[in-house]
Amino acid sequence: MSDSPGATTTVSSAYDLIGGAPSVREAVDRLYTYLLADEQLADYFDGIDLPKLKGHMVMLLTHVLGGPTGYPVENLGPAHARLNISVAHYERVAQYAAGVLFELHAPMDVILQVGQVLASVQPLIVAAPAAA
Ligand code: HEM
Repeated sequence: MSDSPGATTTVSSAYDLIGGAPSVREAVDRLYTYLLADEQLADYFDGIDLPKLKGHMVMLLTHVLGGPTGYPVENLGPAHARLNISVAHYERVAQYAAGVLFELHAPMDVILQVGQVLASVQPLIVAAPAAA
């Protein structure tokens, strides 16, 4: 955006672009509202400590968007292992995530970037496929 020649361009992180911590928290709140309202997905979250889960998701999304907190992505495998999640359910969640970012007016390239990260962690989240 800067048009002054020679100026140092500060590239805002996607995290800043979408509005920082309040936007990330809002995105995560909306995401779980939708997941819990979806009859195909709600049962997965029975008995789960939602505030804790949301806290981890805030850290993960902050991390993915280039914000200030980290999240150990390798935790995703153990966290989902016992859940036996299908590709279809994975895709449903990923689509809600993209939809929530869209609702919050995240730029399309940010939505696509998050989508790519989600795609990259899919193997950690879905159950090993039965014979293809
Ligand atoms: C689309 C990509 C997904 C991402 C990025 C993601 C992210 C996360 C994160 C960060 C946690 C917290 C792990 C921890 O305790 O550190 C978590 C836990 C969990 N996720 Fe996901 N998740 C995804 C997909 C799904 C799907 C498709 C389902 C089910 C339909 C699901 C159900 C759960 C449940 C039930 C937990 C809590 C597990 C427990 O505490 O025992 N997740 N997820």
